[in-house]
Amino acid sequence: MPHPTPTSPARRRLLAAASLTSAAVAAGAPALAAPAQARKQAPGAGKAALVTGSSRGIGAATVRRLAQDGYAVTVNYLRSRDLAERVAADIRAAGGKAIAVQADVSDPAAVRRLFDATEKAHGGVDVVVSNAGIMRLAPFGDMSDEDFDEMMAVNVKGSFNVLREAARRVRDHGRIIALSSSITRMRTPTYGPYAASKGAQDLYASVLAKELAGRMVSVNAIAPGVVNTPLFTDGKTPGQIAGFAQRTPHRRLGEPEDIANTISALCATDGWWVSGQTVFANGGIV
Ligand SMILES: NC(=O)c1ccc[n+]([C@@H]2O[C@H](COP(=O)([O-])OP(=O)(O)OC[C@H]3O[C@@H](n4cnc5c(N)ncnc54)[C@H](OP(=O)(O)O)[C@@H]3O)[C@@H](O)[C@H]2O)c1
Repeated sequence: MPHPTPTSPARRRLLAAASLTSAAVAAGAPALAAPAQARKQAPGAGKAALVTGSSRGIGAATVRRLAQDGYAVTVNYLRSRDLAERVAADIRAAGGKAIAVQADVSDPAAVRRLFDATEKAHGGVDVVVSNAGIMRLAPFGDMSDEDFDEMMAVNVKGSFNVLREAARRVRDHGRIIALSSSITRMRTPTYGPYAASKGAQDLYASVLAKELAGRMVSVNAIAPGVVNTPLFTDGKTPGQIAGFAQRTPHRRLGEPEDIANTISALCATDGWWVSGQTVFANGGIV
């Protein structure tokens, strides 16, 4: 279609429509979007969300954000009991509903107990964020069997355990989100096995989205870039961290809240048509 030129009929129609809208607003007509916005209730009202690995980092920011959105939440942790209990206590102090539950996602029986505890406390589960993950970096020639196996047990098998249980239990119209990574595009040296474990999340989400479509459940992967958490910063020098920050268009690392806000947007009622996708939330780094 030709682009409207300054004098084209298409451009004159656009200008006429714009001036009609301005005239209506100037004459006191109500803004169109405002009343509908005001009537909207909290997206999570009456619903429950479970976020694995939410004692700290991206998971903690996500569970806090979903609680603000009105969800009753389950905070999951592996070892950081104090941190997880504090996140849950903060949410309750702010008027929300939260429990903290220990479970190792690499253990299928523990994941079943995690979902049982969520359903018992909140009456069901509507949103599951498979976030728990670990990162072990080394060039291929130096990667140990132990590090490789541990990473696959948590990131690949563990996320599978969580998504399998989510597929069985998330209520109709729910949301399932798996944490991938922009490393699947950046492909930085030393990140090979970690990148492979995150690429698995993209495939999980796209297949599960098709399996659950009949129940109006949307399933997506979200791929953060470099985010300011220990998973990214541990083992790096300040110079290396600054180097990553400089590579982003915004000249800063992502913060956990940047990712939590994107997850919240995918969980919003209006976001359900986005399904089977990998959403890159990285400030434009790739
Ligand atoms: N940070 C980044 O730059 C970045 C970028 C792209 C993608 N991601 C992905 O985002 C997710 C969260 O990363 P993060 O940076 O927030 O990490 P983080 O700060 O290291 O937090 C990891 C969380 O996962 C939990 N966890 C680890 N192993 C677990 C297990 N076996 N069972 C249950 N929970 C377990 C930890 O619990 P404890 O505190 O109890 O150990 C903690 O709550 C990961 O999947 C990661 O791959 C991160």
